[in-house]
Amino acid sequence: MKEEISVGIVGCGYWGPNLVRNFKSLANCKVRAVCDASEARLQHMKTLYHDVKGVTDFNHLLNGVGVDAVAIATPVKDHYPIAKASLLAGKHTLIEKPMASSSAECEELIELARSQGLVLMVGHTFLYSEPVRMVREIVHRGDIGDIRYINSQRLNLGLFQKDINVAWDLAPHDISIILHILGELPEQVNCQGNASITEGIEDVTNMSLRFKNQRFATIQSSWLEPRKVRQMTIVGTRRMIVYDDLEPREKIRIYDVRVERPPHYDTFAEFHYSYHYGDSYIPHVKQEEPLKAQCQHFLDCIRTGQRPLSSGDHGLELVRILEASSKSLASAGTPVNLSDLEANRPVANLDRGLGVKPGERNIA
Ligand SMILES: NC(=O)c1ccc[n+]([C@@H]2O[C@H](COP(=O)([O-])OP(=O)(O)OC[C@H]3O[C@@H](n4cnc5c(N)ncnc54)[C@H](O)[C@@H]3O)[C@@H](O)[C@H]2O)c1
Repeated sequence: MKEEISVGIVGCGYWGPNLVRNFKSLANCKVRAVCDASEARLQHMKTLYHDVKGVTDFNHLLNGVGVDAVAIATPVKDHYPIAKASLLAGKHTLIEKPMASSSAECEELIELARSQGLVLMVGHTFLYSEPVRMVREIVHRGDIGDIRYINSQRLNLGLFQKDINVAWDLAPHDISIILHILGELPEQVNCQGNASITEGIEDVTNMSLRFKNQRFATIQSSWLEPRKVRQMTIVGTRRMIVYDDLEPREKIRIYDVRVERPPHYDTFAEFHYSYHYGDSYIPHVKQEEPLKAQCQHFLDCIRTGQRPLSSGDHGLELVRILEASSKSLASAGTPVNLSDLEANRPVANLDRGLGVKPGERNIA
């Protein structure tokens, strides 16, 4: 692989320009072209970056401008056809979350990338964020004891999507973080919600993931809240962590608090929970843009051939959980066992990032 990698970005709406800005900031990377179906968006990109070519047809971007790699930030329904064309054209491909509209589409893309020997990566951006890396490290060191549950909230007003509900839009962030921290897949998913603004598209959902050993996670997603909230609480048997992504500096707080049951008691009068109140601690978290680390990791994987921390297989696992959530939503929150889903075959040898930092090799 030559030293400089040429990248093309498809989709320049809300998120695509962030990809362009970050790829442009990286050494030995050239953003050769951007593509958007809207001339107005291309015009906007032209005012920001005079040196980047703009095209309306992604086939032109794939075959006419000489890119090595493609990043896709279109609405989710377009991920599969664009990614398929990109892989067929021999381009390493980064797809924004969620990977595609169905697990069948994800499986096809994974197979295609494998047969072509190309990097296929999914934009699970928070796996590249310093606070998430730190939370995972704290949990895996055993500092908080065994995890009892994780509670995550991602709420604000808008941005309403037309092709996916709020769970498919926002929960991929929480799910990817939770799988990364726990290092395992849930056994059961249930989800309830309401579509109050656009018929048939839920704008508020409550999802619950059940793991082995009675561990569970709840994920609240909403486009209807007056305040923006990005908060995750990890409750352990010894300590608890609150991760607030909106805090400018103090994103992680570790609370040395717990509740304990008395080991012995004979009568109810003797029964008292014991509460432990210790200090709270705010570790220093480096300020780095997660998307920049994600873009760098994509280029590193292209150069070294390593499997991405958020590979196509990770994207597939996440889409299977979203499919289970949709199935549960359609039956008023009935729990869905992931093993009962027809398409749910275990992903072979999948390292969920345990012990791997961006840039490290995670396959033998
Ligand atoms: N990783 C993150 O933190 C993060 C954050 C926000 C959005 N996203 C993801 O990024 C993707 C895009 O989201 P968005 O909010 O920017 O959407 P958007 O609707 O604002 O922008 C999508 C753009 O794609 C263009 N487009 C649509 N179909 C096209 C096609 N066939 N060819 C070329 N251009 C086409 C549209 O004209 C539009 O400008 C979604 O998958 C979303 O989930 C990721």
